[in-house]
Amino acid sequence: MTPTQFCAAAVCGSIIVITSSGIGGALAQNAEDETLPEFTEEFLADAQNITAGAEIWQAQCRHCHGNSAYPGKAPKLKPRRYKPEFVYIRVTNGFGKMPAWKAVYNRDQRMDVVAYILSSEFSP
Ligand code: HEC
Repeated sequence: MTPTQFCAAAVCGSIIVITSSGIGGALAQNAEDETLPEFTEEFLADAQNITAGAEIWQAQCRHCHGNSAYPGKAPKLKPRRYKPEFVYIRVTNGFGKMPAWKAVYNRDQRMDVVAYILSSEFSP
């Protein structure tokens, strides 16, 4: 049902306002996410990015992907097989039972966790 059809029924002016601003916000968020970031060697090797990514890993990802996570909760990651873009897309949009993180972490933070996973510091 389109907003117009929905609204033809009755007193939904205020609902429409809320809904359309919600959609606008979601689109703005997506527009930011649609362009894949460029992962330079320099970015991936940067100690600050890796450290920031490690904190996100500890706070969230470890519960499912960590060595001490309940077996079968999530696959063990295989960083050597991944391109940074693949990890970024999975983290951003989720996949299957893997949650999406775009509403939780901004673009820089999601890039940082990619740098951490692909780094020699990675210790799940
Ligand atoms: C609620 C549990 C859960 C959490 C929390 C979680 N994941 Fe996942 N993740 C999964 C599951 C389940 C899959 C497998 C999805 C599939 O392929 O069906 C997955 C898949 C992935 C993959 C793709 C693995 C592959 O080889 O295909 C990556 C990369 C990944 N997760 C990274 C992360 C990162 C980074 C975080 C933290 C920001 C995170 N995950 C948090 C459950 C989780």
